[in-house]
Amino acid sequence: MPRSYTIRTYGCQMNVHDSERMAGLLESAGYARAEDAAEADVVVFNTCAVRENADNKLYGNLGHLRPAKNARPGMQIAVGGCLAQKDRAEIVRRAPWVDVVFGTHNVAALPVLLERARHNATAQVEIAEALEVFPSTLPARRESAYAGWVSISVGCNNTCTFCIVPSLRGRERDRRPGDVLAEVRALAAEGVLEVTLLGQNVNSYGVEFGDRGAFAKLLRACGDVPGLERVRFTSPHPREFRSDVIAAMAETPNVCPQLHMPLQSGSDAVLRAMRRSYRSGRFLEILDEVRASIPEAAISTDIIVGFPGETDADFDATLEVVAKARFAQAFTFQYSPRPGTPAASLPDQVPKAVVQERYERLVALQEEISWAGNRAREGRVVEVLVATGEGRKDAATRRLSGRARDGRLVHFTPGEAAIRPGDVVSVAVTYGAPHHLVADGPVLSHRRTRAGDAAERPRPSGTGLGLPGFGPPVAAAGTSCGAL
Ligand code: SF4
Ligand code: F3S
Repeated sequence: MPRSYTIRTYGCQMNVHDSERMAGLLESAGYARAEDAAEADVVVFNTCAVRENADNKLYGNLGHLRPAKNARPGMQIAVGGCLAQKDRAEIVRRAPWVDVVFGTHNVAALPVLLERARHNATAQVEIAEALEVFPSTLPARRESAYAGWVSISVGCNNTCTFCIVPSLRGRERDRRPGDVLAEVRALAAEGVLEVTLLGQNVNSYGVEFGDRGAFAKLLRACGDVPGLERVRFTSPHPREFRSDVIAAMAETPNVCPQLHMPLQSGSDAVLRAMRRSYRSGRFLEILDEVRASIPEAAISTDIIVGFPGETDADFDATLEVVAKARFAQAFTFQYSPRPGTPAASLPDQVPKAVVQERYERLVALQEEISWAGNRAREGRVVEVLVATGEGRKDAATRRLSGRARDGRLVHFTPGEAAIRPGDVVSVAVTYGAPHHLVADGPVLSHRRTRAGDAAERPRPSGTGLGLPGFGPPVAAAGTSCGAL
């Protein structure tokens, strides 16, 4: 019997994608995905250092596994990802029953470290300071037959004061365009319809190899990949968001009319304190330029409320920018200090009650805007790529779900048609809710796809990656850039 594994993934899309690589590596080394995660021989934690109390939660989870580990001596526990990069040997000091700790640059070493830990019967800790093997050259066990992540860069050269990512993921390293395109082509050849290009700061792509126009060129090149229907990317940075990228988005038919661009604050004083180099006026200019070229673009953002020193006037400036920007969706976060970041030691931390009150006002405003935007879609026909994870909504409505080209979540009634995840349908929107669209009329067209055929083939239950079903790395699933 091959040894079985399960992976528990926390944090952003970077980690979700790294987990696909870990799974691919383990399967290449002869491991099999555990049918029952509770019975796995190897449990891998792919951790995130951003969330509040991330370390306490990790040690709590490790503590829960201790009795299982004592009862089954062959079982192994590995901890990787950003918290491993941050806490290093501290993890085996606090949880000596852990077998392997590996950093964000050491994904490739996972199978060897597990083997060495078994052979030597001692914990193995491997943390590199810089990337040696680009994770995208490693085998992957992809979670979706119809959508895939493709890394174009790792790391970040910015120094936003609230963000711990650069210290854990290192300086930006760009993957060669030929390698990125080869992976995109290979995915499309397997039947994948949608690709999301992934980087902490996708717009600075090319800086490392001296081509500032590289990201726009990459988008255009994706337009020539046979079979590829949808291209998305995350996350851009307003500072580098240039006209050549907007033109490439507008002129490349398979690049989706969707943009997720973090605002973080509408106050220039707060942006300065965050060390975000654009100002709110520039941010709004970019949105105008995007909408002039791509009128249907759904633009989403991230906003932090209660950054140290944020005054009532600063917060009002954020509300003002949000009102003008008319985001389709905003991921809003209450600031809380992250150890290891410059902002954590700034004076003037805003009291919790004030942050909460501002947060509620911001959420209410954005909700109104999102809802109005969705209501404006009533009556329109949208193309939906059917998803599994967001699945059959409930037994009473028998709705299926998927994403429109602009990233909006759509729940639709399939009627009697045998529609599979990965198929593409057209439906008319009958109702715009604050966070999704409903299409309860007949399905206007249904295209069966190879990804849909793949969804019908049996797969092991439980994904092992902490992801829903057989399903989707979806659009607009939050941020990969400094997520709080
Ligand atoms: Fe880089 Fe984004 Fe973090 Fe800023 S918030 S340092 S751009 S990863
Ligand atoms: Fe790392 Fe992503 Fe969390 S880069 S710290 S897993 S948000």
